[in-house]
Amino acid sequence: MTKKVIIDVDTGIDDALGILLALNSPELDVVCITTVSGNLGVEEVTRNTLQVLELANSEKIPVAKGMNSPLSPDKKEEEIIIVNGKKVNGGEYFHGKNGLGDYKLPQPKTRPVKDHAVDFLIDKIRSNPHEITLITTAPLTNVGKAVMEDPKIARLVDEHIMMGGAYGLTPYGYGNVTPVSEFNVWADPIAANKVFSSKLSTIAVGLDVTQDPSVALTEDCLDHFTQETELNAFISSLISFHIKRGQGAAYPHDPIAVSAAIDREIFEIKDFLVKIETEGTIARGQTVVEKRPEAFVTMRGEVKTPNARICCGIDGGKFMNLFLNRLSKMG
Ligand code: RIB
Ligand code: CA
Repeated sequence: MTKKVIIDVDTGIDDALGILLALNSPELDVVCITTVSGNLGVEEVTRNTLQVLELANSEKIPVAKGMNSPLSPDKKEEEIIIVNGKKVNGGEYFHGKNGLGDYKLPQPKTRPVKDHAVDFLIDKIRSNPHEITLITTAPLTNVGKAVMEDPKIARLVDEHIMMGGAYGLTPYGYGNVTPVSEFNVWADPIAANKVFSSKLSTIAVGLDVTQDPSVALTEDCLDHFTQETELNAFISSLISFHIKRGQGAAYPHDPIAVSAAIDREIFEIKDFLVKIETEGTIARGQTVVEKRPEAFVTMRGEVKTPNARICCGIDGGKFMNLFLNRLSKMG
């Protein structure tokens, strides 16, 4: 049964690869794509998303532009890393100045729909009750705002699959912005808290599985894209840039989240109660998993009811086969 999916993106390199995987998976019918600021500002994210859809001859898929500022205090100035002794913007470093590994694509001919992404999300979910799989590969600002404005939509979404969080459930479940915080949650922890506190049925694909060495992109992945087509040139360029800037550890976070909608067998998943640290410095955006014994929780008058299903294992070979074979067939 084909799943109707909405993908919420902050199109940088791995978002683009996730969109291409979704477009080339018969199990998924991409109803629309919503954009939000994250790796770049929402204008550039929207431009990149339109360019990727046009390159993939999928420009008929509507794109709705969303929030440009997080619900949380903006910490963009902290998204700074030091490379060769110089301070650079993390998003620009890892995704390139244009967000697509500085690959040159023509300016998009298509434009986003007039509706704001938050309104578009609410409308699409309400007009397709219990049919939409919502895949988020970005900060949760649009989705957090949508469930604030119309809480009832949470129960109308069939499933929410999010790339985000670091849950300490595998040796790779450490942060990528702070020691404990993953970028999508760190960028807007208040929005993430709205999502985890809502009635959305969320599956979290966190760094625990997306930083697993078995899914790291390497140069030999490029052997799948040698046929000389524009799409293969684009995909090769994205992967090469990601490997170069990934300091030898380039992870396809967003396509891994998309693969959870295609083949759930790739993952081991367990239910947990997760709370979000919405303030702080080294712990802003931490996804805190309740692991205390039930008695320790209840004696403090708290409950341990799970609010999310968290990925705690990945079959890296299965994912890489799906990812590389599906994308190379597009070329
Ligand atoms: O932490 C990885 C996530 O942050 C990915 O979605 C990547 O695109 C960035 O947004
Ligand atoms: Ca992303």
